[in-house]
Amino acid sequence: MSALVFDRVTHRYAPQKADKMAIANRQSQVGVSDVSFRIANNTVACLLGPSGSGKSTIIRCAAGFEQPLAGSITLGQETVFRVDQPDAENTAARPITSPTAVPDALSASNVSNASDASSASDISNASDVSDTPGKRRPPPLSSRQAGKRPSRWAIDPAVFVPPHKRQIGVVFQDYALFPHLTVFDNVAFGLRRSLRRRDADFPAVEARVHAMLDLVGLQDKAKASPGQLSGGQQQRVALARALAPAPLFLLLDEPFSGLDLWTRARVRDKTLHVLDESQTACLIVSHQPNEAMYMADQLLIIDEGKIVQDSSPEHLYSAPLTLGVASMMGEVNHFGAVIADATLCTDAGQVALPHSRDGLATIAFRPEQVTVTANRRPETAQQDNDTLDFCMRITVVRHVGMHLMVHLDGHDSHCGDLHFHALLPLSTPRPGQEEMVWVSIPRDALTVFDGASGQRHDA
Ligand SMILES: Nc1ncnc2c1ncn2[C@@H]1O[C@H](COP(=O)(O)OP(=O)(O)O)[C@@H](O)[C@H]1O
Ligand SMILES: [Mg+2]
Repeated sequence: MSALVFDRVTHRYAPQKADKMAIANRQSQVGVSDVSFRIANNTVACLLGPSGSGKSTIIRCAAGFEQPLAGSITLGQETVFRVDQPDAENTAARPITSPTAVPDALSASNVSNASDASSASDISNASDVSDTPGKRRPPPLSSRQAGKRPSRWAIDPAVFVPPHKRQIGVVFQDYALFPHLTVFDNVAFGLRRSLRRRDADFPAVEARVHAMLDLVGLQDKAKASPGQLSGGQQQRVALARALAPAPLFLLLDEPFSGLDLWTRARVRDKTLHVLDESQTACLIVSHQPNEAMYMADQLLIIDEGKIVQDSSPEHLYSAPLTLGVASMMGEVNHFGAVIADATLCTDAGQVALPHSRDGLATIAFRPEQVTVTANRRPETAQQDNDTLDFCMRITVVRHVGMHLMVHLDGHDSHCGDLHFHALLPLSTPRPGQEEMVWVSIPRDALTVFDGASGQRHDA
């Protein structure tokens, strides 16, 4: 069963008040456009993309802080948002949502107003669900907006379950811990509020908080205040707070970005094991490919508000749909070439590329797929047309972790100037700088992208 499903979700932001021209022209800022994906139970999914690509918008729509313009969002068995928007043309010109005040209410500085309906604890309050009155119509804005005139940008979804009624936990980029509460009380806050409403027993809260602190390895910090903790420890408190009400789904927006490189690796590892142990499906936002691959069972690549590819990390690495995705997933060598009769011609011979189309293309391969030899392969092997060979000069050699990184320069009369990186095993004799070598790439390692669109030819 799927824990979270986005079906054709589009969200636009209303223009800022200061931007009178945009308001007059009814210009909106695209947050995300026609986004669809499905995250199964017990899955760690990562949303990877550059800054401004729409990652936080997806998190905010899933949590209910934003009301999308179109589409539907399902959490477990429950549709938490749906807009029936039959007229696609109208959506381009007409409604866009008004920024809600809910996220502000979640920041630590607003916590003193704990009676406000939209506190951080409510977001991750799973026990609320049992007394939820169900779906509403029309959409409720945050309590802070109650009483205000309805925005002319507002839309009227058929279903909108407000944030505190969704079985979702959120870990924010800045953790949003309550500074005046102890670690224990931070984690207990949401549980207490929900239990008070339901008249349930308080010892259960204590047991649950201790279990959560144990899970994140912070039992000894229960009485500390957030200000006495390191960044990594604060992140773990935020994680414990989000997990405490046993949410159906967990959203983490760049949860490691505030940490230094060393702490980051440790906290990331701990988070992965905590998520694995709690078996909570989650969506983690990141703009770091290594981090996303480290964490994810499923990777969603987003660019300019659109999901470009949705797959397992290994599939994305070996079969990227675009050159952009290939580069995002790790270092890639590439060069421009012309393909004629499904064949790539080089000074050193020809290679048949049966799945390619004729015309301008970009040929790509990974540094670890390159072989570097002092002598050219025997003629008999070359006749198989199973490798691409270039004669190149070594410019730099560096020791990188378990490999030697060799930088190579060359020129081919068909393909132009070439600059490649080769990752060689440390057992390889260290090649000398300025040495001329043969660089071979197996045909199977070559991925051909369209020269203009960057789309993979055989996709
Ligand atoms: N409150 C807002 N008002 C107007 N535009 C916004 C707002 N929040 C985000 N945007 C715009 O929406 C796009 C996606 O933003 P966001 O989801 O925050 O990206 P990311 O998290 O990937 O950095 C960006 O172009 C951003 O400028
Ligand atoms: Mg963001």
